[in-house]
Amino acid sequence: MSETHTIFKSIGVVGAGQMGSGIAQVLATYGLSVVVHDLNETVLSKAQASMEKSISKLIEKGKIRETTSVILGRIKFSSSLEDLAKVELAIEAASENKEIKKIIFRKLDALLAPTAVLASNTSSISITELAAATKRPKLVLGVHFMNPVPLMKLVEVVRGQLTDDSTVNRVATLLALIEKQTIFSKDYAGFIVNRILMPMLNEAMFTLYEGVGTAEDIDKGMKLGTNHPMGPLELADFIGLDTCLSILEVLYDGFKDPKYRPCPLLKNYVMSGLLGKKTGRGFYDYSQKAGV
Ligand code: CAA
Repeated sequence: MSETHTIFKSIGVVGAGQMGSGIAQVLATYGLSVVVHDLNETVLSKAQASMEKSISKLIEKGKIRETTSVILGRIKFSSSLEDLAKVELAIEAASENKEIKKIIFRKLDALLAPTAVLASNTSSISITELAAATKRPKLVLGVHFMNPVPLMKLVEVVRGQLTDDSTVNRVATLLALIEKQTIFSKDYAGFIVNRILMPMLNEAMFTLYEGVGTAEDIDKGMKLGTNHPMGPLELADFIGLDTCLSILEVLYDGFKDPKYRPCPLLKNYVMSGLLGKKTGRGFYDYSQKAGV
C-alpha cells in the first residue's frame, strides 16, 4: 500500500462498531493517526480484536507489509469524546439513528476547531439535516463506506445542501490516498447504493415471507443466476437486519412510496433480536461459524 501524505493530519472516528473499526483500520493502514471513540469500553476492545484479526489476514495475503502492532500503534482507542478535540476530520459511524447522530454532530461542532470537517458514515440519513445541527454546514458531508471496509473498494460521498466544493474535494483526495474509489450522490434518502440495494434485499425477504422459495434457494438463485458474491438474505444478515430495517424506514419515510415498505418478516426478526450475523442468527444460524 502506498505512502500517505494527506491534508488531514489526524482523524477521529466516532463509534467503534463494524463500520467505525473498519474505517479506522483502513486509515491507520495508510499511515494516518486515528482516534477511535466509543462510549462502551467493551465495544472498543472488540474493535481492537477484530482489527487485529483483519490486519493479520491481510498480512497473510501479502496485502499489507507493516506489522499489526505498527498499524494499531497509530490508533488511540478512547471512551472520551474530548480526545477528538484536535482532529481535523471526524467521521461519525454510530448507530443508524438520526437523533443519536444529531447529538454527536452537536457535540463535535462544539468540541472541534471551527475549520474541522464533520463527516457521517450514514447509509441513508439526510446529511443536510445532520449539517443543520451544526454551525458549519459547509464543512459537513457524507462518506458512506461499504462493509467490510478493508475489502470493499467503494465510498459514496454525499454532498448536503450547503456542503462546499472544497470540503468535497479535500475528502475525495483523502479517499484516493487510501485507495478507495468514489461516487458522488446528492442528498436524498438512501443516496445511490442503498436506494437500489435495499429494495432488492427487501424483495428477497418478501419472496421468503410469501413462501415462494426457501432462503437457500433465494440466495442460490441470485448468486448463481446473477453472479452476486452473496445472496440477498445472506447479505442482509451480514449488514445487520436492524440496519436494513432502519434504511428501509428512511426510504419509506423519505419518498412515501409503498415500494419501500419493510417486509413484516424483517420487522419480526428485528423485534425478536435476530439481527443477523452479529447476533448469531438472522435468516441463517451462525452460532457454530467463526470468521473475520
Ligand atoms: N478483513 C480482512 N479479511 C477479511 C475480512 C475483513 N474484514 N472479511 C473477510 N475477509 C477475508 C475472509 O476471511 C476470506 O479469507 P480466506 O480467503 O483466507 O478464507 C477472504 O476475505 C474472502 O472472504 P470469503 O471467503 O468469505 O469470500 P468472498 O470471496 O465472498 O469475499 C466478500 C467476501 C468480499 C465480503 C464478498 O462476499 C462480497 O463482496 N460480498 C458482498 C459485500 C457487500 O455487498 N457489501 C456491501 C454491503 S452494503 C453496505 O455496506 C452499505 C450499507 O449501508 C448497508
